[in-house]
Formats: sequence, C-alpha cells, structure tokens
Amino acid sequence: MTNFQKILLQTDFSRDDLVTLLSSEGDERQQLFHRAQSVKLQAVGNKVYFRGLVEFSNICAKDCLYCGIRKSNEKVIRYEATDEEILETCRFAWENRFGSVVLQSGELSSPTFVNRIDLLLQKIKQLSNNELGITLSCGEQSIETYRQWKESGAHRYLLRIESSNPDLYRRIHPENDFHSFDRRLQALQDLKTAGYQVGTGVMIGLPFQTTEDLANDLLFLKQIDVDMVGMGPYIEHEDTPLYDFRSSLKTKQERFDLALKMVATLRLLMPEINIAAATALQAIDPAGREKALTIGANIIMPNLTSIKYRKEYQLYEDKPCLDEDAELCRNCLEARIELSGCEIGYGEWGDSKHFIQKS
Ligand code: 5AD
Ligand code: FES
Repeated sequence: MTNFQKILLQTDFSRDDLVTLLSSEGDERQQLFHRAQSVKLQAVGNKVYFRGLVEFSNICAKDCLYCGIRKSNEKVIRYEATDEEILETCRFAWENRFGSVVLQSGELSSPTFVNRIDLLLQKIKQLSNNELGITLSCGEQSIETYRQWKESGAHRYLLRIESSNPDLYRRIHPENDFHSFDRRLQALQDLKTAGYQVGTGVMIGLPFQTTEDLANDLLFLKQIDVDMVGMGPYIEHEDTPLYDFRSSLKTKQERFDLALKMVATLRLLMPEINIAAATALQAIDPAGREKALTIGANIIMPNLTSIKYRKEYQLYEDKPCLDEDAELCRNCLEARIELSGCEIGYGEWGDSKHFIQKS
C-alpha cells in the first residue's frame, strides 16, 4: 500500500495529510474521489436533498472586496422581492416537495428588516403546514435576532467564514468596527448557542491563498464542529476591488479541481455532515455540481429566485441559470442528478446527520 493509500484509510488527519490529499493529481486524485464517494455512501447514503434558494434582496450594508453585490458597486440595480413574491416561491417549493428553502439576501440589520423576516418565517410555516424546512442566509446579526428568527421557524443558518486565516480574511474584507474576522467568529458561535444547525464554508482559489490555508480551513471546520458546509471556487467579478489581483489567480479549471478535492477531503474528515454542491462550481463547469455530488456532496440548492431579479444577484461572473425559471431548473436538475447516480430526497428535510446525533 502506498503512503497516499494509507492516508486515505485514516479517520483522523494532520495538516500535512490534508495538504497531501489536496495536492493529489491523476491516479491519486481518482483514488481520493473513490474513497470520498464510499465514505459518503456509508455515512449519509445516496440521497441528495433540495434547498430551494430564494435570493430575495441584493441590498447589502457590507463591502466585501470580492462580491458583486457589495455596497459600493453602483452598477447593480438594487431590488427587494415583495412578501407575496417570496411566499409564492416558497409555495412552489413546498408543492414540488423540495423539503426546504433557503432565504438569502445581502446583509441588513435594521429593525424593519429583522421584523420582516420574522413575519415571513411565520407565514412560510403556515402555508406549508409546518412542512418546509427553512434555512436563513442573511449575514451577521445579534444573538437576539438569531433567537427571534429561530423562534419563528428558522432552524438552519448559513454564514461562511470565507477564509479561516485571519490575515487572508483581512485582505479580502474591509476592516472596521462593523466588519471583522472576530465578529464573524462570534456570529458563528452565537448561531450555535441559539440552537441552529450551522453551516459555514470558504472560497477556494482566492488570491494570496495557499494549500496550507485550505488545509487549515478544513481543520477549522472540524474544530468548530459545523453541521453543514458550502464551499466553492472563488470567481472574479469585474466590478469589485479584488478583480485587480486576477493575474495572480490559478486558472478557473485549477480552482474548480481544487474545490472538488476540498469537498472530497472534507467528506473524509467529517463523514456525517451535509455538504452542498456549490453553485459556483457550475459557473466553471456546466456539470460541476453533479461532479461534486458524485465525490462527496449531498445537498443542492436549486435557484428559485424570480428571473426578473436574477441578473442583479450576480455575486460573481458567469453565474449559471440566469434565464431558466424554477420549473425548468427543477426538470433539468432532476435529470442531471439521476445521471450522477444519486437519488433525490423529495419532501424530506434531510437534516445533517452530524447535528441530529449531537442533539
Ligand atoms: N466568487 C465566489 N463566491 C463568492 N461569494 C461571494 N462573492 C463570490 C465570488 N466572487 C460567496 C461568498 C458568500 C456566498 C453567499 O457567496 O462565499 O458567503
Ligand atoms: Fe454583502 Fe459581503 S458584500 S455581505
């Protein structure tokens, strides 16, 4: 047995082991993918769960240096879907047995925003007889807000750490009282205290990022004991400051390959968590998300955002499905997922097994 094969069979991994796995190429990379696939099947099975994604507003108070909807990007037309539009989309998700929805937006924390989400949560619960699972992805909030939203029906929350290296975090975000690495860590802790299933993740292939950083990101995910992870390749956006560093980037294909290896390696490190096949994968390879499902991911987030808003929610270039409505998206996904050999868990919440076993 080679050293690489020995590492693959471990259940605990040092940073050096992780770097070795993330650096694999050719035949060894295939072995990593095979191992991740079998660990996934054994730990969480073959089902893929849907989280219908509703990007209900692109108004954001933050100014992340990589993000297309950052506050300072004046080229974006700002929108806010109406309550009726949001509820209609959630009804579509429920009627089509999607199991769960994710309400995502730019980050705001005014009382109007907080209370609006609160009422929406209650209405979504009502319209679906409490059947739809609800994940929120609305940025950093106070623990009181997290608690209030939990009380009203949200039970999962996505908030990416983006990079677990504080120096790298500082280079890709403006540093001020209102935005800092420590505040992000605190928010993740608060979500846990408030009782959510917590999802976080990182971008892969950022300027200045090393393979050691990515190995540390994986160890960070393990250390904070996350329940769900969404991570995908960084993709440059022309109207953001980080675009100036594009010449130092790996090629898109290299970032894509690295993202797949991150997913597979994470599956070995945390076999029972939920791992999403990030949409950003599909911006590089049309079959990108399905490839991630085959090698370790078990969650997919079909985009249900109304077509009239989609082009204004471009976090990065080439975001896929800009003109496909929810129904088409569903049909095309169904066929693709079947091709990847997975089964869709219609009508099921598909909670993180890792979370269930802790509680
Ligand atoms: N490339 C890839 N992912 C991005 N995100 C934001 N901007 C980009 C980009 N340029 C991701 C961030 C954020 C999530 C909603 O989208 O990780 O947390
Ligand atoms: Fe909106 Fe980063 S730009 S949270």
